[in-house]
Amino acid sequence: MNASIANTRRVARVVRGQPASDGAGVKLTRVIGQPDLDMLDPFLLLDEFRSDQAGDYLAGFPNHPHRGFETVTYMLAGRMRHGDNQGNSGLLTPGSVQWMTAGRGIVHSEMPEQENGLMAGFQLWVNLPAKDKMTAPRYQDIAPERIPVVDAGDGLRVRVLAGRHGDTAGPVEGIAVAPLYLDIEVAPNARGLAHVPDGHTAFAYVFEGEATFGSSDASRTIARGDLAVFERNGDAIEIAAGEHGARFILVAGKPLNESVARYGPFVMNTPEQIVEAIRDFQSGKF
Ligand code: CO
Repeated sequence: MNASIANTRRVARVVRGQPASDGAGVKLTRVIGQPDLDMLDPFLLLDEFRSDQAGDYLAGFPNHPHRGFETVTYMLAGRMRHGDNQGNSGLLTPGSVQWMTAGRGIVHSEMPEQENGLMAGFQLWVNLPAKDKMTAPRYQDIAPERIPVVDAGDGLRVRVLAGRHGDTAGPVEGIAVAPLYLDIEVAPNARGLAHVPDGHTAFAYVFEGEATFGSSDASRTIARGDLAVFERNGDAIEIAAGEHGARFILVAGKPLNESVARYGPFVMNTPEQIVEAIRDFQSGKF
């Protein structure tokens, strides 16, 4: 482990998620895409939804468009039915992930298929490079049993949704920003290491317990509901948990460094392309 210490990343900043409402009134926590953190190239938005109050989620996300980016839904608890205007549909079950490349445009709905109990998970928006913004829509619906779990006996239990952890590769493939998406559970008082590609944007969002990131001379402890944004340089992140353990998502991706024109569910490169997107949507071209 010592060999990699020199390349360990520090936490650059910590951002608190903010209460928000979206869709037909779903209560959620907006972590990226809010006043304190507009975006984190190539990531445009991160929402956590977590409630056992049906009134917080039942209204769901009725028909709405997307163009120019990808939406990634990771379900921890509960079930969500999705369907679009091109005949695609499916049921997201606990532990499943859907990587949807909206490309040139889809109109879809995302509706809870349960009337009570806990609904929990994340939606992440990932930008597409200019050359791929008008690509054909594509779905990768990944069932829970296809997501490998690395349990190396060091107190870290890592679900690999995308990218690699050690020799284990996640099932999501062919994504422009070469994403890493890990769900990491850390046992009480355990320590470990996760590798991230040097130069790629990386963040961790803690959703259970408290996690400490960085080497001992420059570590920060991150509370539940906080996002740690890491420095760009370095190829590893040191991880530790206190006496209650921790669980967080660790996400990384290649920054696009392109101009961003954004209006609600349309994310393009120029204001003219946004006007075109609105016009195409209103005239039924999605
Ligand atoms: Co959507």
